[in-house]
Amino acid sequence: MTKYIAKSSNPLNLATDCMVVGAYQDGSLTDTAQLVDDKIGGFLSSAINQGDLNGDPGSALLIPGLQGSKASRVLLVGCGQRTTELSIADASKIASAIAGSLQKCRAKDAVIDIAGLSVDSHTQSESIAICLQSIEYSLYAFDQLKQKKSNKNLKSIIFLATDRSDANLAQVGIARGQALANGVKTARDLGNLPGNICTPTYLAKEAKKLQKSHGLKVTILEEKKMEELGMGSLLSVSRGSREPAKFIIMQYSGGAKKDAPIVLVGKGLTFDAGGISLKPAGAMDEMKYDMCGGASVFGVMQAVAEMKLPVNLIGVVPSSENLPDGAANKPGDVVTSMAGKTIEILNTDAEGRLILCDALTYCRRFKPAKIIDIATLTGACVIALGAHPSGMFTHSDELSAELEEAGNHTLDRVWRMPLWDDYQNQIDTPFADIANVGGRNAGAVTAACFLARFTEGLNWAHLDIAGTAWTQGKNKSSTGRPVSLLTQLVINHAEK
Ligand code: BES
Ligand code: MN
Ligand code: ZN
Repeated sequence: MTKYIAKSSNPLNLATDCMVVGAYQDGSLTDTAQLVDDKIGGFLSSAINQGDLNGDPGSALLIPGLQGSKASRVLLVGCGQRTTELSIADASKIASAIAGSLQKCRAKDAVIDIAGLSVDSHTQSESIAICLQSIEYSLYAFDQLKQKKSNKNLKSIIFLATDRSDANLAQVGIARGQALANGVKTARDLGNLPGNICTPTYLAKEAKKLQKSHGLKVTILEEKKMEELGMGSLLSVSRGSREPAKFIIMQYSGGAKKDAPIVLVGKGLTFDAGGISLKPAGAMDEMKYDMCGGASVFGVMQAVAEMKLPVNLIGVVPSSENLPDGAANKPGDVVTSMAGKTIEILNTDAEGRLILCDALTYCRRFKPAKIIDIATLTGACVIALGAHPSGMFTHSDELSAELEEAGNHTLDRVWRMPLWDDYQNQIDTPFADIANVGGRNAGAVTAACFLARFTEGLNWAHLDIAGTAWTQGKNKSSTGRPVSLLTQLVINHAEK
């Protein structure tokens, strides 16, 4: 764990493994960089003049220790245009270039010049928080199941502020950024864990840990209790698995008693083989990520608790496996949900909506100000939107605007999809109140339409994170999305 502190002192007096300073696209240096450059005989400006660094965000040049400097190295990083504020995307690029270089040179500590760090439509503290969070995101390695651990040399980073008040602002940003980074890391770790380790029981235990470490109130409902509550839809999914389902409820009460809570409901499918409607073998391992909605709820609960926000927040994670088995759902089976509506299961692989509908019904008791479910719900959403935005579905223009704003502010964006009643007849069936699938067309929409039938009268939105929760390829990893977006939503709610 890297420790972050803010300091205002003369950069020339700081002994460090790496002094990180900025250069712009026009070839000029930040004030701190200029100070260092003067001291070491113009080495930085001559490097720029001979074209070793062009100043683009993401560019970086590592220069070994020089006469006259107490730093063992200087890292010159591109900061874009001198005259304009950074976009959040560029700020993240700069931060990950810094993290990458620091890791490569195995620096144990670093000093980062933040004087020029100002992100468009963000406060100074927020800019620092973004920087910290992006560094932590880049340093992340999932090595807990490997004998050989990754390099964790980097023990401390000093953000170099211009004066005391600047340092105080930076300190606020550090606290916020660290809390968010911790939440994102929790979500990523849970996501990356394989299905044989991260079972519903494991998730329930992790929730209990958050009770101890973060003072959340955590309740775990067992299958017996779910039966009493009439959660026939959720239990029908779990019946095909040897791992018992867990219904996890985490409560953070930072607001007044009378304040209606925000409720987050995350799909916690710890492995989705499809059930009797078995998935094809290719990339099936990635279905360990089918609990990333639930993992994001863990992350937000942790971040919000660490920020001590004055708000009431409830996180609910229905958790199960979806496997083929003699007791598993069969196509054509009809089950009864907690809401009393009957569901014909035409495809056992459309299980996420089956566990979510009972969770959403359960949450009515909390009388939420807003209720948002987060789920890796459909492959169709990945086809529609790819990996950049999460799909957003809601009847509420207001909630839609709030989610859009929080998403744009954090670069953890959403794109609104239709939830028109015109699609509803795709999930009608002669054999029950609702079918669990609606054919090939608009698969992400009909999945949302299914959930909409259980959320009438609620201020509800559904986020389909199937395309955003993890990355594929050689650097396959969970992303921790949408912890940033949702934490921002809670911050904005608390400030209103
Ligand atoms: N967890 C999957 C959705 C998914 C698939 C997410 C691939 C990310 C990548 C979900 O449970 C599922 O299997 N959905 C089906 C629904 C279909 C049967 C209507 C799908 O998308 O194929
Ligand atoms: Mn499925
Ligand atoms: Zn699934």
